[in-house]
Order: sequence, then C-alpha cells, then structure tokens
Amino acid sequence: MMTGMNVVITGGAGFIGGRLASAILAAGSLSAAGAASRPVTRLTLVDHVAPPALLSRDPRVAVWQADLVAGLADRDSSPLGDADVVFHLAAAVSADCERDFDLGLRANVEGTQLVLAACRQSGRVPVLVFASSVAVFGGTGSHPLPDAVTDSTLPVPQSSYGVQKLIGEQLVADYSRKGFIQGRSVRLATVCVRPGRPNGAASGFLSGIIREPLAGLRANAPVPPDTEVAVSSPARAVEGLLRAATAAPQQWGDPTAVNLPSVTVTVGEMVATLERVASPAVSALVGWQPDRATAAIVAGWPARFTTTRAAGLGLRPDAGFEAIVRSYLREHASAGLVEVPSENQ
Ligand SMILES: NC(=O)c1ccc[n+]([C@@H]2O[C@H](COP(=O)([O-])OP(=O)(O)OC[C@H]3O[C@@H](n4cnc5c(N)ncnc54)[C@H](O)[C@@H]3O)[C@@H](O)[C@H]2O)c1
Repeated sequence: MMTGMNVVITGGAGFIGGRLASAILAAGSLSAAGAASRPVTRLTLVDHVAPPALLSRDPRVAVWQADLVAGLADRDSSPLGDADVVFHLAAAVSADCERDFDLGLRANVEGTQLVLAACRQSGRVPVLVFASSVAVFGGTGSHPLPDAVTDSTLPVPQSSYGVQKLIGEQLVADYSRKGFIQGRSVRLATVCVRPGRPNGAASGFLSGIIREPLAGLRANAPVPPDTEVAVSSPARAVEGLLRAATAAPQQWGDPTAVNLPSVTVTVGEMVATLERVASPAVSALVGWQPDRATAAIVAGWPARFTTTRAAGLGLRPDAGFEAIVRSYLREHASAGLVEVPSENQ
C-alpha cells in the first residue's frame, strides 16, 4: 500500500500559508522532489494564531498553535520529526523587522535555524521549501541594481528583513549541501491583493490601495505614482511554492534561490487599473500622502525581473495587474467584502 505523506506548513494560518494548505488539501496528494505522488494524510499547520475553521476541521489537518521559536526549543514535541515536506513560511514581515530588530532576528533567523535543525534531527532528509523575498535585492553605489534582476544577480539586501531572508536562503543551501534536507528557496515578489486587515509589511499599501477602496474605504499611497513595483497574485505565489516542492532535483538545479515570476507595474497604473475595473469614484478614495520611511524601503526593491529558472519549471507571471485585481474581486465578491462593478457580476 502507498504510504501517506506528512506535510508541515509553518505560518500555516497566514495569508499565503492558508491558501497553500487549501491547495494541498484540494489536490489530496503531493510529489516530493519528483518522486511519485503520495496521498497527503497529515497536514500540520504551525502558527501562533489559529487557522481558519475551514482548514482545521479537515480530518487530515493537525494544528500546532505555538510560537515557533519557543515551541521548537522543546525538540521532543516538534511536529517536524516525521515531516516529508516542510513549507517554511512563518516570518516577521519587513516593516516590523525594520522597527524591531530583535523581533526579526528571533522570528526569521532563530526560527529558520530551529526549523532546519529539527529537519536535520529527523534524519528523513525532508524537502524544505523556504519562502524568501525579493527584498534580498537592493542597490548600492558599488553594486547598483541591474535593469532587470536575474537568477544570478548578487543579493545586496538593504533592510533587516532582506538580510534575514538571505541568511535563511544560505542556511537552506548549506543544509542541502550537507545532505540534511532537500532545500528549495523561492523569492516571492509582493503578493497582492492581500485580504483582511493591513499587516506590518512595508509593501502593505500595495494591497490597501485596492482592497480598501473596493470596500468603500479610504487608502493612502505613500510613494510617488511613478514608483515601479513587482507584484504577483496569491495563486501564482502558491503555485511557485508547490512547484518548488515537486520539482525533481535535476529540474530544480543548484541550491541557490529561484526568483518567482512577477508583473511590473507603477503605483499610478495600479490606481488607474482600479478606476478601470471599478469606477473613478472608487479610485478617488486613494490619497497620495508621502511617507519617507516606506518610500525609502520600497524604492530600494527591484521591480523588473527576468525569471529564467522559474520559466524552466513551467512557472509564468500573472497576465497583468488587471488580472490580479479581477481575481481578487471574483474571490471576495461572494463574501460581500467588495462592491463588485457590474461587468464582474
Ligand atoms: N505576502 C508577500 O507579499 C510576501 C512577499 C515576499 C515574501 N513573503 C514571505 O512569504 C511568507 C508568508 O507570507 P504571508 O504574506 O503569508 O505572511 P503572513 O504574515 O500572513 O503569515 C505569516 C504567518 O506566520 C506566523 N508567524 C510568524 N512568526 C511566527 C512564529 N515565531 N511562530 C509561529 N508563527 C509565526 C504568523 O502568525 C502568520 O500567520 C513569509 O515568510 C514572508 O516573509 C511574503
């Protein structure tokens, strides 16, 4: 009989983790690094907040509600001991890490180290997918950003969060080289439109300027309209994380990180898209009050990518920013969270 597979998602109650969990449960099976697909018999969601009931009531789901760092310090109770595939998504986000240096080090460096140590200790050489970020890139005087970032562009992070993600990538690569895990790091661009309440990410306004006006609320764009950003839909982010887990070693290539595909758009174009998809009255709810701290972080991120390795894995970007907004509308209209313009009904 085919043995079942144990999958763990750290940050499994979060924006992307919850969607990844839903996608895995809906698929019902998973291939680990090119091996034959096996049924997912246990999916453990690790998070210090509870996942939505829709996930926790699935009989295959186990919930480990704890702080990752405190919880993994007690090795015996680790849910990673019999994991076949681990998606490590739990992290403190960019602006929070910039505000609170110790929080970022603890959640993102210590947390990642403990996850990797638990995977090593299991002796099962699990597939581990690490959610890194394009925030590992940044330009300096001697290392300016190229016109388009490629898979071989030198990461020169300009924020604590970016540094912490790069440390995570390097640890994943070294644990893989040592044969402790089969590690795969993927760098996500800003994923939007993020539903719910704003979080502590410097990129949070990129969702807020779409989400809030669609709910009849005001929002602020704290950067100049010609600021270019790289964005992707949650669906493309989940697709990239899953592909990282399923790719055979020869398809994945070396243990350096893969940049996931993204769409380049200016913040002004985002608001113009909102006007087109919804109405001028809706897009007029966006204000342009500058915020220097946010603008400085966002201006340091690259906005243009050539994602050759991702393309080789069959990953493509969204069709455009309008497609991202329309998919958000489709998903949230039924929950009554947005006022759907007539052509979307
Ligand atoms: N959303 C994006 O735009 C984006 C872009 C680039 C990279 N990423 C990365 O993708 C991953 C998922 O992002 P997201 O948008 O879903 O974030 P999120 O904040 O919605 O989810 C992260 C989850 O991790 C949990 N968490 C954080 N620290 C923890 C700890 N110490 N112990 C237990 N749980 C903890 C949080 O409670 C949260 O539910 C993160 O690693 C993030 O850095 C996200």
